[in-house]
Amino acid sequence: MKVGFYQFRPIFGKTDQNCQKIVNALENVDADLIVLPELALSGYYFKDKQETLKYAEDPENSSRLDALCNLAYKRNLHLVIGFAEKQNDHCYNSAALIGPNGIEHLYRKVHLFNEEKFCFDPGDTPFVVNDINGVKIGIMICFDWVFPEVTRVLAMQGAQIICQPSNLVLTFCQQTMLARCIENRVFAITANRYGTDKRPQGSLKFTGKSQIVAPGGTLLHRAASQRDALYITEINPDDADNKMITEHNHLFNDRRREFYPL
Ligand code: ACM
Repeated sequence: MKVGFYQFRPIFGKTDQNCQKIVNALENVDADLIVLPELALSGYYFKDKQETLKYAEDPENSSRLDALCNLAYKRNLHLVIGFAEKQNDHCYNSAALIGPNGIEHLYRKVHLFNEEKFCFDPGDTPFVVNDINGVKIGIMICFDWVFPEVTRVLAMQGAQIICQPSNLVLTFCQQTMLARCIENRVFAITANRYGTDKRPQGSLKFTGKSQIVAPGGTLLHRAASQRDALYITEINPDDADNKMITEHNHLFNDRRREFYPL
């Protein structure tokens, strides 16, 4: 299976331009699954919920998501992309799984980071696993990484590949995902953005270094910090199915839940 990420620098508020940048970058791509950053169409640093709604997409009526569906159809691939989702007067920091037949799943970020709490409604979708051509993928968004429960519940449902659209500002996630892949024996694709959102309320710089990690915590590739990067590699998702970390230790069956009841 050919999997990868596209790291770039969305321009705040330029939704059409950002979408076109993705379409151009991937128009000749040969891959089965590409992960894109969080809020890849709108940019990140909204000032309040009203502003988020202005730049958010209604998945039922979005020329930009339609363009990405068209791309997935033409290239016969799956995309996981983060975007601001509008539903009536609610908005979510969401990720869409898009395949050749359109949007297959929406995940709404459960753990909102810092000022996101003023700009989005908390996600209300459960962590589920999606099947793409027999491969099981799980989706989480950026700051979900800090809650090890997320990778664990996805892995325990059979996820072989964790797709993580991200807009990371802290520096810990990339390294931490190695541990997530050791303790759950999954693949993880972290697609981060780079560049800076300069807004009236302040300025946020994003850390790039998108990466793919294999079960056991092997770093297959990490991109540069502040540069566009389209990276694709071949993996065998079945490598994630063996949960033995030693001959006598199964990562899930050896849990002693009576000792950690909270
Ligand atoms: C983040 O969750 N965007 C840091």
